[in-house]
Amino acid sequence: AIQRTFSIIKPDATNRNLTGKINAVFEDAGLRIVAQKRVRMTAAQAEGFYAEHSERPFFGELVEFMTSAPVVLQVLQGENAVLKHREVMGATNPAEAAEGTVRKLFAQSIGENSVHGSDSAESAAREINYFFRPEEIVG
Ligand code: CMP
Repeated sequence: AIQRTFSIIKPDATNRNLTGKINAVFEDAGLRIVAQKRVRMTAAQAEGFYAEHSERPFFGELVEFMTSAPVVLQVLQGENAVLKHREVMGATNPAEAAEGTVRKLFAQSIGENSVHGSDSAESAAREINYFFRPEEIVG
């Protein structure tokens, strides 16, 4: 079924001017960018977005990184979009990411891993709603 997922192009990637190259990987995989905005996340936004990781040892580092430079927030739409997006992103740890995936091509470390994607349809709905108003999404 046609599904939507939430994507973030992270600071390590925007710093290296990789937005277009990453979007090309998504589009080549059949994902359609139906909403997109570049923002500098506030600490409050990043803490809220990553609330489920608040007890992890890397939480402070994660918030620091995600607020260190602009990010590109996106809604991607397509057949089986959540799983398809996860496949083209590759493993969280770039050392384990498959050939041709965004993280294999561009990521620098497990923290500076270029992209975020929702891990389920439920997360996608929550994450999209966290950053986008319905009228900003044009399918
Ligand atoms: P993301 O999908 O955005 O969701 C949580 C993020 O935490 C994850 O991507 C990683 O970038 C980050 N992360 C996971 N493990 C570590 C770690 N050991 N050190 C720093 N960041 C991490």
